[in-house]
Formats: sequence, structure tokens, C-alpha cells
Amino acid sequence: KSNEFQQMIEAHTLAANFYSHLLLNTVEGEKALHYLEQRGFSREHIEKYGIGWSLDDREVLTQLLMRKKFDMKEMELAGLCIMKNDGTGYFDRFRGRIMFPLHDDNGNVVAFSGRTLSESKEEAKYLNSPETPIFEKSRLLYNFHNARLNVRKTGKVILFEGFMDTIAAERAGIMNSVAVMGTSLSDIHLNKMKRIANQLIICCDGDNAGWDAAKRFAVLSNQKGLDAKIALLPGKMDPDEYISTFGGDSFAEKVIGNPHSYMSFIMAYYKRSKNLSHENDVLQYIHEVLEELASKVSPVERDLMIRQLTAETGVSSNALNEQLMKKVGKLAKQEK
Ligand code: UTP
Ligand code: MN
Ligand code: MN
Ligand code: MN
Ligand code: MN
Repeated sequence: KSNEFQQMIEAHTLAANFYSHLLLNTVEGEKALHYLEQRGFSREHIEKYGIGWSLDDREVLTQLLMRKKFDMKEMELAGLCIMKNDGTGYFDRFRGRIMFPLHDDNGNVVAFSGRTLSESKEEAKYLNSPETPIFEKSRLLYNFHNARLNVRKTGKVILFEGFMDTIAAERAGIMNSVAVMGTSLSDIHLNKMKRIANQLIICCDGDNAGWDAAKRFAVLSNQKGLDAKIALLPGKMDPDEYISTFGGDSFAEKVIGNPHSYMSFIMAYYKRSKNLSHENDVLQYIHEVLEELASKVSPVERDLMIRQLTAETGVSSNALNEQLMKKVGKLAKQEK
């Protein structure tokens, strides 16, 4: 069994080197290389993260693996190759994509995520390796092996929802970031971070999915006993877009350097879709924030939030406190 794992990792390492060569040294890779340069990737970062290009060809990798005498059944199981419909052989899973190797905690390449160059919505933006004996999405944190030392040193870890953001963050001098593969954060992910950090800064995309992910991540992290703060981005930007637009220094100082507490984030979360000059929106906003406040215990935090609510809505702090106490009473009854 461990020999099977070894073979799969070896094949992934070979594939990563092959893809990297195609990107950096061939005419076929030029378009992808330009794309990456346009997005702000330096040669150094391309090499550090092992980024490559998979030719738009049905079976170059398959042939390479066969020449190197890998067991093709195993290569299919490892997610690198797919069996042809008629069962006469295999072809490459990844074709015509920018290849991002995904590493396990020891730095072994165990999977890939391939980005399309086309902006058409017809094909998935990212094609990922399937779950395999060496790759589970719920276990893998992108960049964990690189960031680990810096996380330990600072006691702090930055969490993004996409690996592009982790790579971009390095341009902001941020060397202690990791990323999940989208919007699910598992217990395994949390335990991994908790073992080496006590503070977590969650920085999700500024679109609706990102705000919801940030809320979910924050709740889960706090339940784990991680001190989680949330960094917010203006508009619907994601971290990578912010860094490309405003620069790394601004990102490090204004975004990551100024994260919000859970309650402060929650207020921004509920305010985001509302117009506080409309009475209905004001009522709804107060209701949502007080619901959250009622389940929190810190009196200081309550006081701060009530004051902010008063400033934002013009409703007196007496009225807000009265309403809050009603909600607290209701909660206490439910708990009995
Ligand atoms: P995003 O859509 O935010 O991607 O998805 P991104 O990091 O901003 O990428 P660019 O900047 O458009 O190139 C965040 C993460 O969700 C997963 C990937 O792991 C990605 O890093 N995802 C997204 C997929 O697996 N498949 C998809 O089609 C899209
Ligand atoms: Mn996103
Ligand atoms: Mn994004
Ligand atoms: Mn992006
Ligand atoms: Mn802020």
C-alpha cells in the first residue's frame, strides 16, 4: 500500500516537472506565461509554487508515464489519467490548463488544480484532481508546508478561499497564509491551523459567496477556540484583485493589518445589503445585530455594538438595550 502511495507521489512529481518545463521553456507555454505575467506573477513565484502548463494534447502525460513504466491503472486512480470509453487505453485528465501543484504537509505534490485561460463560462474555471488515496480536499491547505514556520513564528495564520490569493499575498510580504480549495473549511483544516497558531485572520472574497464563507469560517474557528478576526475588502474584490489594484503595502496595512472582530464583522455583514435611510432596513438591521448580540456574553462588546448601532440608526441606546434584554430573556427560556 505505501508503495502505491509512493508511486502516485512520484508520478505527480514527474508531472509537475513536466508541466513546469512546458510553461517555462516551450513555445506552447508562451501564452500561459504571458497570462501569468499579466496577473503579476514573477518568474520567481512561478518557480517557487511549481506552476506549469498542460499541453492541449490528449495524451502527452499519459505517454510519458507509460515510458517511465508507471502502472496505468494506478495513474487512473491517482487522477492523472482517464480511461478511454472503449477501454483501449488512457488519456490525460488535464489539457490546456495552467497547472498549480497541490502539496501535502510534507511538501509532496499530491494533486493539481488546472486553470483555464479562457474566460468563457462554459468550462469550469478550475479543474481539480479527484479525491484519491493521496489527496483529500478536506485535508489539504494550500501552502501549509511553506507557511508553517512563519505561522509558528508569528502565532498568526491568514486564511484565503483561493490559492491565487495566497500567491498574491506573497507580493504583499505575507508569508504566513494558506488557502482552502473554495468555500468549505473542515475540522481537519481547523485542527491543522490550531496546532501551530492561536490567531487566525480570515480573508475571503468580497462577493456574496465570500461574505457567507467568512461568516461560516469565523463561527467554526471560534468554536474551535481559535481567536479569529475577519479582514474585509472594498467592493466585491478578492484579495488578489485588491493587491493588483492597490498594491501589496496597502493590502498588508489596510486589509490584513486592520481586521475586524467577529461582532464588528457581523455588523458590516448585515449592513452590506441595506439602505439605512429606509425604515424597514433599519428595523431589520437592528433585529439581526441584536440577535447576534443576545447570544454573546461580553458586556464590553455589547456596549460597543450598541453605541455603534445608535450612531448608525439614531435609535437610542435605552431602546436598543431594552430590545436586547428581551432577546436575551427569550434565549434563556429556550435553553431551559
Ligand atoms: P475563486 O472563483 O474565488 O477563484 O475560487 P480565484 O482564486 O479568484 O481565481 P481567479 O483569480 O479567478 O483565477 C476560489 C477557489 O475555489 C475553487 C478553487 O480552489 C479556487 O482557488 N474553485 C473555484 C474550483 O475548485 N473550481 C472552480 O471552477 C472555481
Ligand atoms: Mn471566490
Ligand atoms: Mn477569488
Ligand atoms: Mn481571484
Ligand atoms: Mn476595516
